[in-house]
Amino acid sequence: MPLLKDEVSAEERMAYIRGHVSESHPVLEKLKEITEGRSRAAMLSDYESSVLLSNMLKFACAKKCIDVGVFTGYSSLAWALSIPQDGKVVACDISTEFTDIGKPFWKEAGVDHKIDLRIAPALDTLQAMIDGGETGTYDFIFIDADKESYDMYYEQGLLLLRQGGIIAVDNSFWMGRCMKESDTSLPTQAIRQLNAKIKKDPRVTSVMINISDGIFICLKK
Ligand SMILES: C[S@@+](CC[C@H](N)C(=O)[O-])C[C@H]1O[C@@H](n2cnc3c(N)ncnc32)[C@H](O)[C@@H]1O
Repeated sequence: MPLLKDEVSAEERMAYIRGHVSESHPVLEKLKEITEGRSRAAMLSDYESSVLLSNMLKFACAKKCIDVGVFTGYSSLAWALSIPQDGKVVACDISTEFTDIGKPFWKEAGVDHKIDLRIAPALDTLQAMIDGGETGTYDFIFIDADKESYDMYYEQGLLLLRQGGIIAVDNSFWMGRCMKESDTSLPTQAIRQLNAKIKKDPRVTSVMINISDGIFICLKK
């Protein structure tokens, strides 16, 4: 059956879809509100994508996650709420200024014991985990930090991931900039090159989903 043309505008379509996401966890909602009132709020993860990825974690009975790029702790909290009591989220960021905002909310939600915050460049944290013998042991990795390092996070993530585990690469659509060849800024080039690489990568089966700013969902074969 051919695709039907939408009879509503793109904005109406999004509003309708957004209006049908289930209710947020109250502490996630509070953290979102606090973050939205601060500077750099645009870095905050999107609610719909956190629900989708949380559902995937629950479906897969995931226990071990890595959050690359914590900011005020929204994504780390979402993953911690989706894994069992003995699960863990290794949360990687370089900023205590941002992550200190999230910590009380992790505690309030009763999941702070699951979140292992590592303040250091994520490349170093992930390399230390690889060197420490943790390869092939993680169920889920969310990549949402500095775009120029995305390819290296992806490679390190693939090493740390178990077979059948998932890497979710956030901002893979990059507000359409990756489609504009004239945009040669470093973050845009990094995302464009990684998208092209993932598409051909025989190590994963992947799909870029049209949610938020695009998320590349890659399952390790
Ligand atoms: C887009 S925000 C992450 C948003 C977060 N996932 C959320 O749910 O709100 C990007 C974060 O990456 C962090 N970051 C930037 N460069 C980094 C690096 N080299 N290593 C680790 N974190 C880094 C920034 O401090 C910032 O908090």
